[in-house]
Amino acid sequence: MKCLAIFGVIVAVFAAFVGYGYLVFTDLTRPLPKPELKDNTYWGPGDGKNYVADEKIYDFKLNVPKAEIDDLRQQLNRTLKLTEPLDGIAFQYGFNSYALEQFVQYWREKYLTKWDERQAYFNSLKQYTTEIQGLKIHYIHERVSKEVAAKKKVYPLLLLHGWPGSVREFYDFIPMLRNDQNITDYAFEVVAPSLVGFGWSDAATKPGFDAAEMATVMRNLMLRLGHKQFLIQGGDWGSIIGSNLATLYPQNSLGYHSNMCVLSTPLAILKSIYTHYYPEKVLFSRMFYNHHVPIWEKYMRLIEESGYFHIQATKPDTIGAALDSNPVGLAAYILEKFQTCTGPALAQDFGAMVTVYGLEAVLDNLMVYYLNNAATTSGRLYAETSRKAYRDLQLERVQTSVPMGCVRFAHDLPPATDWALRDKFTNMKHSMYFQQGGHFAAFEMPAMLYNDFTTFVEKIGLENE
Ligand SMILES: *[C@@H]1O[C@H](CO)[C@@H](O)[C@H](O)[C@H]1NC(C)=O
Ligand SMILES: *[C@@H]1O[C@H](CO)[C@@H](O)[C@H](O)[C@H]1NC(C)=O
Repeated sequence: MKCLAIFGVIVAVFAAFVGYGYLVFTDLTRPLPKPELKDNTYWGPGDGKNYVADEKIYDFKLNVPKAEIDDLRQQLNRTLKLTEPLDGIAFQYGFNSYALEQFVQYWREKYLTKWDERQAYFNSLKQYTTEIQGLKIHYIHERVSKEVAAKKKVYPLLLLHGWPGSVREFYDFIPMLRNDQNITDYAFEVVAPSLVGFGWSDAATKPGFDAAEMATVMRNLMLRLGHKQFLIQGGDWGSIIGSNLATLYPQNSLGYHSNMCVLSTPLAILKSIYTHYYPEKVLFSRMFYNHHVPIWEKYMRLIEESGYFHIQATKPDTIGAALDSNPVGLAAYILEKFQTCTGPALAQDFGAMVTVYGLEAVLDNLMVYYLNNAATTSGRLYAETSRKAYRDLQLERVQTSVPMGCVRFAHDLPPATDWALRDKFTNMKHSMYFQQGGHFAAFEMPAMLYNDFTTFVEKIGLENE
């Protein structure tokens, strides 16, 4: 009798445990309703009570005073008191100081002496500014020519960069999108904004400007330009902001294409662990999954490369103070990311960045941060997006039926599988794995990204505009 009672208690406890586990599991995995966000919050200086938006659009041309370039050259000419790397070490401990010295010398002696040429290159794409929610927003806007428009289906496209990138990543990609490539039926009217706090766009002056607010500003910019519906493409933050836009404003989103498809919901994490052990059950080719790397090692790699994330998510103003007005430090901090993202075969190679992106290109991007003193303001996006107010929105668990396309380049962050992505994106139209390429796809492999993006657009099957 006693025995039976004990057995009964054990069964009851077990059942309660399973039941509770089931409740927790379903609670963690069910989709959530779309939160309502204000779509016109004022982010400019002051309280904005009597704010009247200036809706005009202004031409923008980069015109850096010569004195500023001379000043930078002098700063780069100070004796560098850098610490030598350890014996036999390339970039394992961070950006190599020998490499940094060479970069600084090239920057000072070659790059800056032909700044007029670099500036003309920046100005080779049409740029504008307009004010959205109290913030001056800078953007590239390249329209399709009449000749091309006569032959092609033309769609507006919002192109979103990330950190530590800038609109400079898109200088080869945009002409491909806009021009007649003769291989697709499409041409795109491209709008590529500098994110708020990045490049020549203003930074928010109040706390709370997170990746949902960013999506709202970007959407309002497209509305300002007369585009009620548009395509979205992005990597890094651009991918997260694009996902938020497609989630919060599906009525404005024709399609969303990401080259950094990550998802960190509890269910997606469980699925990624399962996929690690049973890739053949989830992926159509084992080629796409480096299952020979132990799972803890995958997470260790993420931790090794993401220290910057933690510091920017917690104390962006401290690291910002070390980097703003400090061109050499800024170079080490930003170039390290581009170096790492060349992939494991090249990450310890001194010539990697020259091979993969070109020296001028990475220095151009660095100049965008230097000239705008944007280390602090761009870093704050991590802090704002890590705050409770943003986390509580749980946007990754809100579904969207906007057509979604995902391309995974080999050396990017570990991507989510279609199996995981479909929990959020109920209308996945396109999915791709590439054997090459890294995190900065538009910068590194614009032609491959172009082909993948247009394949996605083809699969959506949009009507003619
Ligand atoms: C750099 O310093 C050297 C030696 O002090 C000087 O001759 C040269 O003009 C400086 N160059 C710049 C760009 O300031
Ligand atoms: C596309 O074809 C036209 C006409 O044949 C040609 O003028 C143009 O240069 C081609 N464009 C590209 C990007 O190849």
